Amino acid sequence: MTELSLARTAIPGLLRLTLPVHGDSRGWFKEAWQRAKMTAIGLPDFAPVQANQSYNGDRGVTRGLHAEPWDKLISVGAGRIFGAWVDLRPGPSFGATVTFECGPDTAVFVPRGVANGYQSLEPDTVYTYLVNDHWSPEAKSSYAYLNLADDQVAVDWPIPLDAAIVSDADRSHPRLNEVNRIPAKRTLILGADGQLGRALQRLLPDAVALPKQELDLRDTDALHDYDWNTVDTIINAAAYTAVDAAESLEGRADCWHTNVNATATLVEIAARRRIRFVQPSTEYVFDGQEPVHTETERVTPLGVYGQSKAAGDALIATMGAGYYIVRTSWLFGDGRNFVKTMATLARSGKTARVVDDQSGRLTYAGDLAAAIVHLLQTSAPAGIYNVTNSGPTQTWADIAADVFELCGRSRSDITPITTAEYVADKTGVAPRPRYSTLDLSKIEAAGFAPVPARRRLEEYLSALA
Ligand SMILES: NC(=O)c1ccc[n+]([C@@H]2O[C@H](COP(=O)([O-])OP(=O)(O)OC[C@H]3O[C@@H](n4cnc5c(N)ncnc54)[C@H](OP(=O)(O)O)[C@@H]3O)[C@@H](O)[C@H]2O)c1
Repeated sequence: MTELSLARTAIPGLLRLTLPVHGDSRGWFKEAWQRAKMTAIGLPDFAPVQANQSYNGDRGVTRGLHAEPWDKLISVGAGRIFGAWVDLRPGPSFGATVTFECGPDTAVFVPRGVANGYQSLEPDTVYTYLVNDHWSPEAKSSYAYLNLADDQVAVDWPIPLDAAIVSDADRSHPRLNEVNRIPAKRTLILGADGQLGRALQRLLPDAVALPKQELDLRDTDALHDYDWNTVDTIINAAAYTAVDAAESLEGRADCWHTNVNATATLVEIAARRRIRFVQPSTEYVFDGQEPVHTETERVTPLGVYGQSKAAGDALIATMGAGYYIVRTSWLFGDGRNFVKTMATLARSGKTARVVDDQSGRLTYAGDLAAAIVHLLQTSAPAGIYNVTNSGPTQTWADIAADVFELCGRSRSDITPITTAEYVADKTGVAPRPRYSTLDLSKIEAAGFAPVPARRRLEEYLSALA
């Protein structure tokens, strides 16, 4: 009996598996789908949800060529087929063609967008396949079809098509130069109008970017109704980030809805469909007693925002694989942030009182986006990663003084104060971690080199000016 094995083909992602078939006097038995063993040798963990079978009474039944908007794992239950596959995805392999015969000892993984056709070589041939989306009449509108007799592809059918049993529909499909192409799955950026969302859009111009107005994460029905079949990666840059407002009655509910309930829905969708999921998180998941936070420190959030982000992180970690929680601190980019506020004060001739007993590091949104892209492109192991700019830990007052100085003002125009002094005449201020510095050794070990915060600060301020 042969071993389970997997071979690549001339079509990217089209995989041919050889299956062990246990035969005896009664007939035979095989494992047509065995997730653990097959993914271990390289089959995508494609999460099938529907099993289909077609029975072909006669030799010479020929079906196809159909490309569908989902992945398939084909096997033969009885008899024998001649299979043909043509890549109908846009790109350099468009039109690539692979053919081979399959009996019960062969399975074929057909990625979304690759057209599939076959001819029964024996009577009573049973052809079965698993798919990772439910069939629906609407889905048919995104099929792509190719004529079995297309002369560019020129499949060498063992039984000539004029002697084969073919449906009228299959005889009338278009030629290669007229077919629909099924686009590749794409990255989806949620919260695309935030600081991180905008930075991600610059680095990932082919991604679908949805701001809150187009997809509000609090709308659970809209989340469920989205066409997830077109998505291979979700980067959830949406978050309720108003740390102080989250302490109010209304803010608390809103914060929890966006940062926890919506994350739960997204995690459920991503896990079921094997979509990679990236979510930025924050050092606010810590109480800030440790001077430097590693990824393994136990979370101890102080305020509602930190608690909601910690809860979201715990939900994501249940995925087990295919997720990145990217913890960051003190973000600045295209949007409202501390650096911009200080620059505005500096350039309008004002002075500022700034807390000097909370320390951490700045993170330029473009660098956070680059680190996320790095983790995805290198398929780094799933888990939590800290990402900030590098360089010395500073207090908010240190950074404010740097900003003032870079804007041509005196450092002494910043008055350092304690957090207690800052909150003395205010209500509803969320508690903040004393120490925000995140340890960067894990992201560095993953091959990403954080840029010094000072360099990014200088570039940012000169671009603002
Ligand atoms: N900013 C920081 O210093 C900092 C520090 C550590 C970690 N983080 C984390 O980093 C991530 C990105 O932060 P950021 O600075 O880019 O935040 P941001 O600028 O506030 O952007 C968040 C975006 O999410 C949107 N949003 C809010 N609620 C939403 C909802 N229900 N549905 C869809 N979109 C929604 C916001 O839209 P509206 O503005 O219209 O509400 C905004 O466009 C967040 O996960 C945050 O927790 C930030």
